[in-house]
Amino acid sequence: MVLYLLWAIGLVLVAIPLYFRWCRAGRLMAKIPGPPELPVIGNLVTIYRSKAWFLLIFIPFQMILSSTTYNEKNLPYTFLYTWLREGLLVSKGEKWHQRRKLLTPAFHSCARALGILNEHFHCFRERTQDLLRAIENEHNKAQVDLNPLFTKATLLVMCETSLGTKVEDTPVFDNYLKSIHDMGECVFQRLTQPLLAINFIYSMSSNARREKSIVKVLHDYTKQIVEKRRDNRMLNSKSVVKENVYEKKIKPALLDLLLDEEEQGNIDIEGVLEEVDTFLFEGHDTTASVLTFMVMRIANESVAQNHIYEELKDIYGDSPRQLTVEDLSKMRYLECCIKESLRLYPSVPFLSRYIKHEVDIAGYTIPKKTFCNIHVFDVHRDPEVYPDPERFIPERFLPKNVATRSPYSYIPFSAGPRNCIGQKFAMMELKTVMSELLWKYQLEPITKPEDLVFTTDLVLRTNHPIYVRFRPRVQF
Ligand code: HEM
Repeated sequence: MVLYLLWAIGLVLVAIPLYFRWCRAGRLMAKIPGPPELPVIGNLVTIYRSKAWFLLIFIPFQMILSSTTYNEKNLPYTFLYTWLREGLLVSKGEKWHQRRKLLTPAFHSCARALGILNEHFHCFRERTQDLLRAIENEHNKAQVDLNPLFTKATLLVMCETSLGTKVEDTPVFDNYLKSIHDMGECVFQRLTQPLLAINFIYSMSSNARREKSIVKVLHDYTKQIVEKRRDNRMLNSKSVVKENVYEKKIKPALLDLLLDEEEQGNIDIEGVLEEVDTFLFEGHDTTASVLTFMVMRIANESVAQNHIYEELKDIYGDSPRQLTVEDLSKMRYLECCIKESLRLYPSVPFLSRYIKHEVDIAGYTIPKKTFCNIHVFDVHRDPEVYPDPERFIPERFLPKNVATRSPYSYIPFSAGPRNCIGQKFAMMELKTVMSELLWKYQLEPITKPEDLVFTTDLVLRTNHPIYVRFRPRVQF
């Protein structure tokens, strides 16, 4: 009896991979170049070793990113669904298109967007001062754990610029921050355990129950701020609010833009809430990740660090003064360093697209219902495009060098119609924080680039904390 059972299990174990190999999708997949496979088990060993369950294939990806036909998302973004619902990051089809059109004017380079961004600059500068004060309390320590520091600072920026309210660093805010972290843990479980990717199985797990209570905290927090703002607007006349927000230059928040659209019937309150949640998530964790890796790397690159400091000295001259928005455009070398950091440590290490219908791309047929992952981390380390890829060489981003490369060889903000809507916002925030930080502190290395061990996650992270030491500079 036991023997029959073992035979039956063995047969099933052999039959399933054979079926996947010989069905149409399997035959098409087999023609696409990828890592070496073993008989029957295929790439299982590679998948096990990489601690993620994605299958690797190698094809040119430009067509996928540049097209509106293949820009649908599915797994793993759907792991964020209970929290972000159908916000811009996760939504698809007509809904995504309509929302993107509605939100673009606040972020892209039209005059209105630039005006709004310039207003956000004041928030970046104020919040950077808070960050510097937090570092001041820590600078005597032999080492400072970077990510918690930057995560809090960037979330405060996103709350203020999105919600239009100065969010205080209170226990309620800390609880919100902690819940975002806990939600990240739930997503991580699903990313690394294939069975938990199946909704039915996940819904019965203790993780799903935990996620439910975390999402409640996350939603309650944003809902109460949105409702308060909505009530305040109702107390004022619509025209006064519009004048305040866009003409009298009182902090123009994403929320105001959304509530204006709600009044015009272009979005409902559920839509407003899902976009607010999406921007708070997508806008802070990514930026905190770049800051963490960049500060660590600059601490280890004394030549680049000195070069940035010299550039700042040229900009500020002899007299100490406040940073201005015009100063930011003069920080050309710092900008190259930010870009080089994003090359080596792209906050979004892979992009995923769901290919719904069978399609021919670059001479290969991709079967329908394929999850296609583009590994930004590896694209940025192609030695043919970036010789000596592990070395930190900011000059790679001088305009004359950029001109020799394909735009698809550098995609930290993705590319095509579904690229990052907040990239100008992010660059401005990064320049503000990095310039203020390097003006005030000399960074000394603790964690070395070779110590980093990356984990599988939606945002680039490591197994262990990343540390540097901050040594105050003596100004002039
Ligand atoms: C350095 C910081 C940032 C990096 C590296 C980054 C990177 C990205 C990437 C790679 C995507 C595409 C994701 C995908 O297709 O899977 C994306 C999308 C997005 N980002 Fe960013 N991002 C950053 C900062 C921001 C900021 C500050 C905001 C908000 C102000 C933001 C809002 C969004 C939104 C809403 C989307 C979805 C766009 C869509 O699907 O139409 N991001 N980001």
